[in-house]
Amino acid sequence: MEQKLKAAQRKIAGPVPAASKTAPPLWPGVIRYYWDLLPVKKQQSVVTLLEGNTPLVRCGNLERAINPDMQLYLKLEGLNPTCSFKDRGMTVAISKAVEEGSRAVICASTGNTSASAAAYAARAGLQAYVLIPQGSVSLGKLSQAMIHGARVIEVEGNFDSALGLVKEAARRFPITLVNSLNPHRIEGQKTAAFEICDSLGKAPDYHFLPVGNAGNITAYWKGYNEYLEIGLTTSLPQMMGFQAAGAAPIVLGKIVEDPRTIASAIRIGNPASWKSALAARDESKGAIEMVSDEEIIAAYKLLAGSEGILAEPASAISVAGVIRKQKERVFRKGDVVVCTLTGHGLKDPDTAIRHSTQPTRIAPKLELLEALFNEEEKK
Ligand code: F0G
Repeated sequence: MEQKLKAAQRKIAGPVPAASKTAPPLWPGVIRYYWDLLPVKKQQSVVTLLEGNTPLVRCGNLERAINPDMQLYLKLEGLNPTCSFKDRGMTVAISKAVEEGSRAVICASTGNTSASAAAYAARAGLQAYVLIPQGSVSLGKLSQAMIHGARVIEVEGNFDSALGLVKEAARRFPITLVNSLNPHRIEGQKTAAFEICDSLGKAPDYHFLPVGNAGNITAYWKGYNEYLEIGLTTSLPQMMGFQAAGAAPIVLGKIVEDPRTIASAIRIGNPASWKSALAARDESKGAIEMVSDEEIIAAYKLLAGSEGILAEPASAISVAGVIRKQKERVFRKGDVVVCTLTGHGLKDPDTAIRHSTQPTRIAPKLELLEALFNEEEKK
């Protein structure tokens, strides 16, 4: 298996000479690509939208803005089929649900899990029930869950109360829980760490990512450790998790009853995978810290304006974290730093519009357009 995986390693490529161009092999989705390292047993139970194989983009403009001596890569998880990293875990969780004969799935969600569960359940022919905190899920995510045919239930409360309810429901009724408490979700999500190592040919020095319910930091740490154990890498990254200051239970060491942040995806006060996030932090000699909403929005705008990459605010927190750690001078020359951008910015167009220059309206006259060009040049 080791050889097979080694052969499959996808190094970051330079230009491909015309003479040697061949069609790239079809990507089979994370379950089939990492078959030996995942729990799905039967080929016929695989439910996939060919998730994974997302770009790992080197960001020179950000490097110049933050620290030209580091190599900064962004893993664009918003380019998965439902536009977030959740699809990696959902393909495994839904495939296992099919394998085990389940007819329905349930989750609580700040939006992305519900969008992904709804899509994969639709593909598998299962009924999805998604519980969302009333009034605090962005429009893109809500519309996905609805159009994929999930039964959408708005809970009069926050994410934490919705999660409590679905946990109880999954205990009492014949329905499969597909939150990241389901270990198959973690198994699927660890494949992002595999892909990063495959692309770089080694593990990074630091891995920055947002922490909400804390499943993803748990999954990445598992993935990095498994690659080390099977000999495909020789080191581990320091795991750097970030929470929003108004929703930072792990940083504060206590449940936050009324979590608040502009980053609605990580508006969580009592994370399910709290303990394993602490283990990832401590075993990797990393950190879990918090940044303000202002820092999140500054990073969100920097990403969009200087690299052309639109990620949702919760995702931009990983870049805000790099900026914060640069101020503390933690990086050494040549450090390879990876940030996961967990979800696409189009999930939440309201936030993009609110933080941008508003459109200028003109009559269809060339001189009016010319006046605008002149104005722009003077800036
Ligand atoms: N980034 C985005 C865009 C998310 O949607 C989430 C979690 C996270 C980061 C945090 O990941 O929970 O594994 O620590 N979203 C969940 C949801 C809670 O319901 O969609 P985590």
